[in-house]
Amino acid sequence: MHILLISGSTREGSLNKSLLDAAEEEAHNLSHQTTSLPHQLASFPLFHSDLEADAAVQNQLSMLRQQIEAADVILISSPEYNGFHTPHLHNIFTWASRSAAGKSHSVLEGKVVGLLAAAPGPFGGVRMLPRLSSFAADHGCWVHPRYVAVGNMASKTNDDGQLTCSETRQKLRNLISQTCKMAEPVKITEPA
Ligand SMILES: Cc1cc2nc3c(=O)[nH]c(=O)nc-3n(C[C@H](O)[C@H](O)[C@H](O)COP(=O)(O)O)c2cc1C
Repeated sequence: MHILLISGSTREGSLNKSLLDAAEEEAHNLSHQTTSLPHQLASFPLFHSDLEADAAVQNQLSMLRQQIEAADVILISSPEYNGFHTPHLHNIFTWASRSAAGKSHSVLEGKVVGLLAAAPGPFGGVRMLPRLSSFAADHGCWVHPRYVAVGNMASKTNDDGQLTCSETRQKLRNLISQTCKMAEPVKITEPA
């Protein structure tokens, strides 16, 4: 499977980027391919529809669409900001929700998504995750119902920001396996 990794944080030293890095390693251990959405590609101006006429933005949007289209699964890790996902992530979804010329659906329609969150506090983004799930489902995504919410993330990483907690790594492997299974084509057997 091909997994696209999207971080809701672009911050230097982001805990969510660390969690996604660990998810990427575990995905490779499970023989999946990964692509991280590049920061430049994810950094759109705040959406308003006048900007849709801008050729440079359209070019960026077309590259974003290609990355999403090429993915079997999207794994998103977002910080919780006051109980919600970040404005940065919201903006990516809003841009991606716009269908390309001549298409009736956005590229998000039917995409299988797994959700992660990391926080320095004990709760790991548990208020945000069901809201993000509902938000992604409203964009036509199929969201895996289990999340990986990592509280006290700083105590689970080493000085280089690498995830050292084996229990969390196991949870990542479980979510990746289950989400990829969800993305397998459904086999319909003909009645005898
Ligand atoms: C505006 C703002 C709101 C926040 N709200 C929450 C919150 O509701 N719950 C929580 O656990 N942490 C909250 N935090 C703390 C973030 O979890 C913390 O800054 C985290 O490191 C951000 O993720 P990152 O390291 O991936 O950038 C908030 C931080 C900011 C800046």
